[in-house]
Amino acid sequence: MSIANVSLVTVRDVESLRRRVQAWRREGRSVALVPTMGALHKGHITLMERAMKMADRVVATIFVNPKQFGPNEDFGAYPRRETADFELLNAAGVHLLYAPDAAAMYPANFSTNIQISGVSECLDGAHRPGHFDGVATVVAKLLLQALPDIALFGEKDYQQFVLIRRLVADLNIPVDIIGAETVREPDGLALSSRNTYLSADERAQAPALYRAISAAAKSIAAGEPIPAATAAAQAQILAAGFSKVDYVEARHAESLAPLTAKTEPGRVLAAAQLGRARLIDNIAIPRV
Ligand code: PAF
Repeated sequence: MSIANVSLVTVRDVESLRRRVQAWRREGRSVALVPTMGALHKGHITLMERAMKMADRVVATIFVNPKQFGPNEDFGAYPRRETADFELLNAAGVHLLYAPDAAAMYPANFSTNIQISGVSECLDGAHRPGHFDGVATVVAKLLLQALPDIALFGEKDYQQFVLIRRLVADLNIPVDIIGAETVREPDGLALSSRNTYLSADERAQAPALYRAISAAAKSIAAGEPIPAATAAAQAQILAAGFSKVDYVEARHAESLAPLTAKTEPGRVLAAAQLGRARLIDNIAIPRV
């Protein structure tokens, strides 16, 4: 990458971020924020491209947030490759990269924890204690630091997307939260930075998760009882070689309450372990 082709600027502190965003606002430009933990893939870049169409200026963030990892989770192993990410963001035309370090985000006396009840207690919230407190706390900070017009999140992390909408509504944070459809490999596997943990054999087994939840969503739409459809999906995932299924559940698309009738907008959500990778995925239940 020659210097002539570099227009992306990196800032690492909130004052520099705010200075740039406020200058754009004074010029009357709209601003989109795309929060990430880096290790960017096509799914992230699709989010950036969507943001570029929706706003005049796009700020990407890269911060591997320690508060959203449990003590036995993969915080240490989580892929970090800021130089490659920078090149991808620059090529996508993103205007600003905000990449604070942990000390800037959480100074020594940092004491706030945002806990959202209801939507964050089930599914991943039940299996990863504290995870969504960490997500809500860092996302609230990122939104308040940048004060964008819109912020974009991938629907692969569907529960995260729902609880961020709740957070913004509850705290009157003046930003529109936009969800973007999951980007998939040709065989259906949802793109994820954690797919890099998969061995070649596991990579071949991994699309079974998507196949199983797609089949469950179709059967529920066709009238199969929800417990039978989700149990069948669970069995298919285990038969494909996953070592553990944390959940396969059909939930209301907005409240995440257990789905009681197929007339409600619903999603099938699943999380399962394959080798070192804990994969999550979800799909809308077709409306009939
Ligand atoms: O989805 C992610 O990458 C993270 O959970 C987020 C929203 C950037 C917060 O750290």
